[in-house]
Amino acid sequence: MKTDKQLDGALRSLFDNIRFPEEPAGLYDPLRYMIRIGGKRIRPQLCLLAYALFRKADDARTPIPESVLAPAEALEVFHSFTLIHDDIMDRSPLRRGEPTVWKRWNPDTAILSGDVMLIEAYKRMAKAPASVLDDVLELFSRTAAQVCEGQQYDLEFESREDVTMAEYEQMIGLKTAVLLACSAQTGALLAGAPEDACRAMYDYGYSLGMAFQVADDYLDAFGDQKVFGKPIGGDILNAKKSWLTIHALEKAAQADRKGGDTERRFRAAFSAPATDEVGKAAKVEAVCALYRELGVHDDACAEILRYTARGLEAVEKIRLGPVRLQMLRRFADRLTGRAK
Ligand code: IPE
Ligand code: IPE
Ligand code: MG
Ligand code: MG
Ligand code: MG
Repeated sequence: MKTDKQLDGALRSLFDNIRFPEEPAGLYDPLRYMIRIGGKRIRPQLCLLAYALFRKADDARTPIPESVLAPAEALEVFHSFTLIHDDIMDRSPLRRGEPTVWKRWNPDTAILSGDVMLIEAYKRMAKAPASVLDDVLELFSRTAAQVCEGQQYDLEFESREDVTMAEYEQMIGLKTAVLLACSAQTGALLAGAPEDACRAMYDYGYSLGMAFQVADDYLDAFGDQKVFGKPIGGDILNAKKSWLTIHALEKAAQADRKGGDTERRFRAAFSAPATDEVGKAAKVEAVCALYRELGVHDDACAEILRYTARGLEAVEKIRLGPVRLQMLRRFADRLTGRAK
């Protein structure tokens, strides 16, 4: 079986050599830009890892066929497309430590380059071997639609004050977890893994995706912008209903039952107007101080670990053996311990 190091090498060369059409440059340059500025590439990584797990006979010399590399690439191209549009919707100026496409070019370019990037993703996914093409495309199309559904809920929640934890979980399941689930299952499908293994890989990816989005919410408030590559406090300023917000409201209501007015204080801080840079920084600081007061940041870390453990349980059921399980554990640990 291939090692983590060999898979990392394959991934690097895949994206170093990625090609998009040259002309019109105004349409395709933003695609090249998004891939060049990097990102963690966890989705294609997970896809190739899942593929390798079910190709036990492969070693360092066995080439990974184009019909596997292209779908892995498709997952990152699709993900990067969602980010181009997400950054317009979230009014975010920074991505992967660089200006976002709508900032560096303009929103019209970001819309159209995003559209063609989705098509570039489909072209790559369609290169899966004929034997699994129907299943791969069906999974990918279902997932892509779900991401849009999740993004819609995310937007709707901005103007709602009563979002429950169950609604939040459904929303992040759609906008984030299904794509990690799809990445893991696609790798298993490409390797010809049995159905129960494909399902377990989907569940593993899904739970890791949930952990991943809670971590993203956490880092949006408590991360280091230089490492995270995105502006800190963006969720607070956009009135996003993040895991931290919803859990803070739950905890504040609980605390107030013993007397106190934490919920009122939290809602006031969260909805306080902030127009200039000084006001925005003060608002983010005030909300983060309340998160800390309520112990929400520690609870978020516990929640990330809980989802990660659930992901591992899903794959422990399919008797992969210690070596393969260890690879899945390492991948999970890398996501859980991330600072970017
Ligand atoms: C950002 O995804 C969007 C979320 C689903 C949280 P990543 O954190 O994987 O972003 P990149 O690709 O590494 O930049
Ligand atoms: C995830 O949500 C975005 C997508 C699923 C495209 P966020 O809006 O939190 O992602 P970031 O923080 O901007 O990367
Ligand atoms: Mg968003
Ligand atoms: Mg965003
Ligand atoms: Mg975020």
